[in-house]
Amino acid sequence: MSDLNQAKKAVKKAGKILRKNYNKNYGVERKAKHDLVTDIDLKAEKKIIKILKKTGHSIFGEETGKHDGDGKTWIVDPLDGTTNYVLNSPAFSSAVALIDEGDEILLSAVYIPFTDDLFYAKKDEGAYLNGEELNVSDTNQLEESLIVYCHGKKPEDSSKAVELYGKLKTKCKDLRQIGSASIEYCMVAQGTSEAFVFPGAPRYDAVPGMLILKEAGGKATTFGGSKWTLSSKTLIASNGKIHKQIIEKLKDL
Ligand code: IPD
Ligand code: CA
Ligand code: CA
Repeated sequence: MSDLNQAKKAVKKAGKILRKNYNKNYGVERKAKHDLVTDIDLKAEKKIIKILKKTGHSIFGEETGKHDGDGKTWIVDPLDGTTNYVLNSPAFSSAVALIDEGDEILLSAVYIPFTDDLFYAKKDEGAYLNGEELNVSDTNQLEESLIVYCHGKKPEDSSKAVELYGKLKTKCKDLRQIGSASIEYCMVAQGTSEAFVFPGAPRYDAVPGMLILKEAGGKATTFGGSKWTLSSKTLIASNGKIHKQIIEKLKDL
């Protein structure tokens, strides 16, 4: 089976576990102030690792860390949106991506169990939702844009989110926090949102949606406008047409 097909299989199988245990009894722990983990995160990650191990590539899972393999690495977020999951809100996903030795993202897959939506992308081959090619929106005015945002787990990330709220909320059509980074990227890729902004994204949140966004025609930089890399501390992922207008608002954060 190709790496892309293994990625699709992994997120769908994980999604099945998430759906089956939704609104049921399971253990919940607090890793940090804004960071929950459930037994189901762990169960889903175990399933994904079992499938992706067959490819021979290394794996970096949010919950279990590094698993050695060859030079390519799978980045795994088994349940993106754990807080929503615990609140019995259906905005959560399962996400994986494969990167090479130079941190180039080769392919990725994001699955939303509740809508049965499978997003995926392969470098230079476009981004798709259930087989339909995706394109970012044409909106080029900030006032007409719906912007979504996340923030990382550190207190300074939350403080930046408070500041960005003040800088964007009244300047755009609306600003929403959905609670699953991969879903937020996919909203921009499918043109239902114009931009996703994220202070403090760790790699398992920042990587899987990135290729889907780019292959759908989107653009990604830091808040300051420099090239986004895996070690960047901030992220603007947009349709490209409102990118400069957002940098203007966020460049000093
Ligand atoms: C979280 C979600 C959330 C974002 C957090 C992430 P998790 O992922 O994507 O929207 O604000 O920074 O960590 O912990 O549910 O996988
Ligand atoms: Ca996540
Ligand atoms: Ca997670």
